[in-house]
Amino acid sequence: MKDTSESVIEKIIKSKKRIQNHGEVFTPRRIVKKMLDMPNIRDACQNLTSTFLEPAAGEGAFLVEILNRKMKMIEKNYGDELTRYENYSLLALSTLYGVELLEDNAQRCVMNMYQVYYDAYQQQAREHDGKVKNKVLDSAKLIISNNIAQGNFLTKLSSNGNPIIFSEWQPINLRKNAKTIKVQRTEFTLEEILNEEEKECGESSKHAVKIEQLDLFDSYDDEAEPKEKRLKYVPVKITEVYKEEMEEVDG
Ligand SMILES: C[S@@+](CC[C@H](N)C(=O)[O-])C[C@H]1O[C@@H](n2cnc3c(N)ncnc32)[C@H](O)[C@@H]1O
Repeated sequence: MKDTSESVIEKIIKSKKRIQNHGEVFTPRRIVKKMLDMPNIRDACQNLTSTFLEPAAGEGAFLVEILNRKMKMIEKNYGDELTRYENYSLLALSTLYGVELLEDNAQRCVMNMYQVYYDAYQQQAREHDGKVKNKVLDSAKLIISNNIAQGNFLTKLSSNGNPIIFSEWQPINLRKNAKTIKVQRTEFTLEEILNEEEKECGESSKHAVKIEQLDLFDSYDDEAEPKEKRLKYVPVKITEVYKEEMEEVDG
């Protein structure tokens, strides 16, 4: 019997205008699968921490299939306990990134990825006689919405004209047999990623804010430079990244 997903007629073209303006033609699922079956790529899809960045993500044809494969691998290798599955599945999810120019496609990509994550997690929860947890789902949403950027890969700018920013979710206690995982988030601009720039763990690109000097005695000194305070992400359980916890550091 045919895979039901393949028996559904796929919409690979939305309009002639969109093809002309944005080269928008979606890749059929059958072709995506064939391409991901190439030896090196197939292996990377089975690897917990291998990262993927899709520069013209569309509705997520490639990212969704890679996520499907990673979720199956997690079920097989880390599915003995629900807590372990929750932690490793979030880490696998955090390795997938995309950029998409058009708002509707970017939103659809986020939704499609979340649906894959939710369906796989719900099935695992059922098999373990458990329930899906809001903190896990909220963390999944936060990760996906940060990893899929609406913007232009060529200019490296997002739709609001600011640099595209991605977060690295660096596991900090990844030991064999560990049931829970802690991560520290660090933000990079797309430019910094492509230039392979190094950054201090936890550094944030969005939260570098200048605040006025609050010292009572300095307040009369017109020459005083505003003191820069920066916020830095702290190490947290991966199931709690949705809280986006940060601490202040002196700049
Ligand atoms: C040929 S489609 C492929 C979509 C998806 N990768 C797939 O295989 O189904 C190209 C996509 O790239 C997007 N796009 C075009 N120019 C872009 C740019 N400069 N930066 C990011 N995305 C872009 C289009 O909106 C479109 O969704």
